[in-house]
Amino acid sequence: MLTDKTIVLGITGSIAAYKAAELASRLTKAGAKVETVMTEAAQRFIVPLTLQSLTHRPVACDMWTPLENFSITHVSLAQAADVAVIAPATANIIAKMAYGLADDLLSSIVLATKAPVIVAPAMNNNMYESSVTQENIARLRARGFVIVEPEIGHLACNAIGKGRMADIDTVVDAINMILRRERDMAGKRVVITAGGTREPIDPVRFIGNRSSGKMGHALAEAARDRGADVTLISTVSLSQPSNMRVVHVESASQMLEAVMQTVWQADVLVMAAAVADYRPKTTQENKIKKDAAVLNIELERTLDILAEVEGDFLRIGFAAETENLLDNARKKLVDKRLDLIAANDVTIAGSGFGSDTNKVTLISRDGKEYDLPLMPKRDVADKVWDWVAANTRRAA
Ligand code: CTP
Repeated sequence: MLTDKTIVLGITGSIAAYKAAELASRLTKAGAKVETVMTEAAQRFIVPLTLQSLTHRPVACDMWTPLENFSITHVSLAQAADVAVIAPATANIIAKMAYGLADDLLSSIVLATKAPVIVAPAMNNNMYESSVTQENIARLRARGFVIVEPEIGHLACNAIGKGRMADIDTVVDAINMILRRERDMAGKRVVITAGGTREPIDPVRFIGNRSSGKMGHALAEAARDRGADVTLISTVSLSQPSNMRVVHVESASQMLEAVMQTVWQADVLVMAAAVADYRPKTTQENKIKKDAAVLNIELERTLDILAEVEGDFLRIGFAAETENLLDNARKKLVDKRLDLIAANDVTIAGSGFGSDTNKVTLISRDGKEYDLPLMPKRDVADKVWDWVAANTRRAA
């Protein structure tokens, strides 16, 4: 994705400027042409020579010294950029970009470029949270800038709060997302569930299942990379996917509530989660002691989320089966009023729970069946979104 892409990397005066060196190095190693632009304040934190050495290119520091091949620096760099990334972005550059100021090289490039701009803020938490900075960020978002939100953590000023520049991986993900040529899900809002639910027996035990959440997370990442606005409702908290809303839930009833709260404004719901069909009728307040020789736990049915939710969105389900795969899946497609179902034989080696690959047959409401070979879950995810992109009822 990054090979031969021209990335204008704008570095501004924050202590996080040192992280920009790692970012520049990562992008260069991935094959990108990184054109670094440093503000005067940035040069107080890190010297241009560092960036020049890492990117093997000259670093632009002011309006008045032309670079080789670039006659008018700000215009040429603005035109050459496939994407501009401001990382770290101070409150000052955010304010300047929000109001179209062009009083130095970097702000002039941002004003002059037609390329997408990614902004990774880094500053003191009070500066970040101040209403004026938040208004400026909202202005940028409204104009299509991509904001890679800062993280909560220990800040250079010794405070703990939101303001630490996002992880380099998160910034690189955002760049890949922007450069992805096929942004056919842009403007679509999707809600995806992932993982197996946990139904509490007592404070330490639950009834669960073998779902790893990998399929749901792959769906969420693929949709994000194709430009969709993604809400991921997941029982899995190990990896925190970037550039999407993640809602963490545990039980079937929490998942139902989270789906209800988000799906009404969605274009697509994909239920990739393995939702418990039964839960303990009561949850014991204290840990159950092993007094009894036989322990009976009474179970009651949970609500079927797909059957419960109503609305004008595409409904996509998964059918995890161990027998009569296609017949069971076809029945679920009809019973749950789905637009598409991914029939998933979980008995095949390398398919289903826990693996990185999956073997599914997609069955659509009009009876078409697509028997896909065993492939990485990310590729299965893209097949699902290919179908969605071709079959979406309403555009955003
Ligand atoms: N599903 C749901 N709510 C439930 C159970 C399942 O929304 N309480 C969704 C799953 O996320 C999946 C689809 O329904 O997309 C099919 O789930 P599956 O477990 O295969 O089927 P069930 O409907 O539970 O039927 P059975 O367990 O009898 O096979």
